[in-house]
Amino acid sequence: RTERLARDIMQDMGSHHIVALCVLKGGYKFFADLLDHIKALNQNGDKSVPITVDFVRIKSYCNDSLTEKINVVGEELCTLNGKDNLFLSLFQDIIETGRTMEALLSKLKENEPKMVKVVSLLVKRTHGNPGYRPDYIGFEIPDKFVVGYALDYNEYFRDLNHICILKEKAKEKYK
Ligand code: IMP
Ligand code: MG
Repeated sequence: RTERLARDIMQDMGSHHIVALCVLKGGYKFFADLLDHIKALNQNGDKSVPITVDFVRIKSYCNDSLTEKINVVGEELCTLNGKDNLFLSLFQDIIETGRTMEALLSKLKENEPKMVKVVSLLVKRTHGNPGYRPDYIGFEIPDKFVVGYALDYNEYFRDLNHICILKEKAKEKYK
């Protein structure tokens, strides 16, 4: 799936200088794997485009529910400053309400990017959610709390290689 996403992204953005922005911490595994595929395509193509990377950290969850405030850490993002031709691609782990992404997007508007594309590994199917949709989606998943592959529950389980649904018992234990 990541390989396929890399191809779609390069097809749409591949002729510009891309700034790939990883949304930490949950996005780091997906970001690293997807970027490997993007790099490979970039090297094998007839023209190669410069890709720079940057990181932003967001914290919005405590236990399995959203906290009131969405904190953006590391917003200086010096690679974004003073670029008049900024093509940004944002790499996010999971989208539930879309609140986190919308907060980040409004912050990034200050840098006046020419184009912003959001890539999310997972999108949750939630009830009664007006439905923010990212530009690229890895997988749609049921409305369950998932961990692993850098996604956490109170900082636990990021080290799992696979993604799995967290049991109620585990939620209690790691509260
Ligand atoms: P949103 O703002 O409601 O879209 O929530 C997105 C953020 O909440 C993600 O960046 C994650 O950090 C966190 N999140 C939401 N659902 C899950 C989940 O099932 N597992 C782990 N983190 C989640
Ligand atoms: Mg988290």
